[in-house]
Amino acid sequence: TSDLPVYTLEEVTKHCSLDSGVWVTYKGAVYDITEFVAIHPGGDKILLAAGGALEPYWALYAIHQQDHVLEILSEYKIGVL
Ligand code: HEM
Repeated sequence: TSDLPVYTLEEVTKHCSLDSGVWVTYKGAVYDITEFVAIHPGGDKILLAAGGALEPYWALYAIHQQDHVLEILSEYKIGVL
């Protein structure tokens, strides 16, 4: 079990820009990656996933299937779906 808040998909979709904050989902968890956008090695492409799921993009850009990438993501976890 998790003591993190539960968010709806609707709440996630509202966080789709640097102004509103950039949230993404991955495997049932919610991440606020606003602070990571500027330091992403893949640049602004990361904003394509803003307010939605990482899975379709990470399927395309398989470079993300590494432990060190998941470790970075885990630092930004704010809740679950
Ligand atoms: C590269 C993290 C989302 C596109 C990387 C790398 C990291 C990273 C750590 C470097 C990997 C390495 O070289 O070993 C993340 C995280 C994301 C995210 C934590 C979400 C929170 C995305 C999205 C896209 C994307 C949504 C595309 C729509 C890319 C590309 C590269 C890359 C194209 C390769 C850059 C290069 O080497 O030239 N990402 N990424 N990333 N990312 Fe992401």
